[in-house]
Amino acid sequence: MVGVRGLEPPAPWSQTRYANQTALHPVALKRELFFEILKNHPCMWSGIICKNFYFVKSFCIILLKKLGFVMKISRFSRIGFILATAGSAVGLGNIWKFPYMTGEYGGGAFVLTYLITILLIGFAVLVAEITIGALGRLDTVSSFEKLSNNKNWKYAGFMGMNGLIIMIFYSVVIGWILHYIFSSIFYGLPENIQTAQDKFSNLIANEVGIQILWHTIATFIVLYFVHKGIKQGIEKLNIILMPSLIIILLGMLIYSMNLDGFAKSINFMFSPDWSKIDSDVIIRAIGHAFFTLSLGMGAIMTYSASLPKHINITKTALIVTFMDTIIALIAGLMIFAFLFEFGESPSKGPGLVFISMPVIFAQLGYMGIFFALIFFLALAFAGLTSAVSLVEPSVQYLITRLKISRLRATVFSGIFYYILGLSALLSYTSSWGEIFSISGTPLFDIYEFTTDSILLPLGGILMAIFVGYVLPKDQVKKLLSDEMGKYYPIWRFSIKFIAPISIFIMMLSLIGIL
Ligand code: TRP
Repeated sequence: MVGVRGLEPPAPWSQTRYANQTALHPVALKRELFFEILKNHPCMWSGIICKNFYFVKSFCIILLKKLGFVMKISRFSRIGFILATAGSAVGLGNIWKFPYMTGEYGGGAFVLTYLITILLIGFAVLVAEITIGALGRLDTVSSFEKLSNNKNWKYAGFMGMNGLIIMIFYSVVIGWILHYIFSSIFYGLPENIQTAQDKFSNLIANEVGIQILWHTIATFIVLYFVHKGIKQGIEKLNIILMPSLIIILLGMLIYSMNLDGFAKSINFMFSPDWSKIDSDVIIRAIGHAFFTLSLGMGAIMTYSASLPKHINITKTALIVTFMDTIIALIAGLMIFAFLFEFGESPSKGPGLVFISMPVIFAQLGYMGIFFALIFFLALAFAGLTSAVSLVEPSVQYLITRLKISRLRATVFSGIFYYILGLSALLSYTSSWGEIFSISGTPLFDIYEFTTDSILLPLGGILMAIFVGYVLPKDQVKKLLSDEMGKYYPIWRFSIKFIAPISIFIMMLSLIGIL
């Protein structure tokens, strides 16, 4: 007899055979049904098509996958999940953005607000986001839809698309980094701050073609890894790049500790000038805390849909928060140590790492070129592992909901951010800047501010409310209370009250009510 496991199959589509399969996703159910039909088809019984059912079955799976009917739910390995989540969190936000924001928003005051936010809100929301992903196990929209009775919650899931808005400027910055890797090798390093400043300003203001070229290359690299999928692409990329990044940064930190500027750097970062804390600093610090932990847009939620079995969510969230914070602090300390060593000012805006670091490396002779190379490589690694997490939620959504192949989903998402990326890129140029600005603010800054200070906190508030008030209390408790032990009530309090209320206050102050 030809049949799966050699058993006489009961009548197809009978109620009882699917009664215990309610947990299956509709797509998986469809697949099961398909095999049932196939299995019971007269041709199969007569053995005309093939003697070996398994051969036909695997052929059909391939066919169905190509047609986009089968959702491939691959899971991360445990270390893969931790590294991918940390890889998402540790990004340009830590090495490019954190130092320049600290420089611009008053040093210690900014750092302190950021650290408090991470501790009080960031960690709690991170756990909440993993929880939604782990319970939903689908793309962001479907997870919200599946987990609540009120179907309007699915609109919260569209926060997953915000990643593409971040990618609009993120990809441009990865492009700058790739350009710096290339130019440090072939054109050497600028000798003084003035030349470095000119070089960077010239790049962003005049070199439209070069920027577009690197933005395009960056897009291709990111899309290549996203299209390879969770296990083959994203997990592999992170397992190699994350440890390399940490080694490079630690090496540079140790080097910078021997500089006189190191003490000044510690002083700048850790002794807050209270007079500098105003609503602007607080808004930017909270926004940055969300940005740096990859919170509030469903990146972590999407990764958590592929969460391995038996993983401790709380511990993972702790490791990720710790790694992310420590890497930002290391990057800040190191960059400011170099900067103060050469008597430079810390407020240089988005050009900070591109202007100051190459000059500093230039002082070190040939070794400097080597340092510059590994520094920008580390930055590129950090950027790439985050970028894939920014694109993946939209890709998952397109695969599951529109039933298109991963390749197509990746290409569509890529085209969206690539084209808008051009508007961000052009908004800093001298010839196109005015056209691509809104009341004098370049679109680049608008994309950046809208995402980190508005959309991410908004996403965070929705997740906190969802986990705190909408998800059944017992379901959440079952998942987390053993892991957290006596800290569980504190987390719950934070997710129900502290996180939503403080983000709400921040929002009010953002729109000028407070
Ligand atoms: N956290 C990353 C960084 O620090 C950026 C990032 C990746 C991100 N995925 C995200 C930010 C999701 C917000 C949401 O550079």
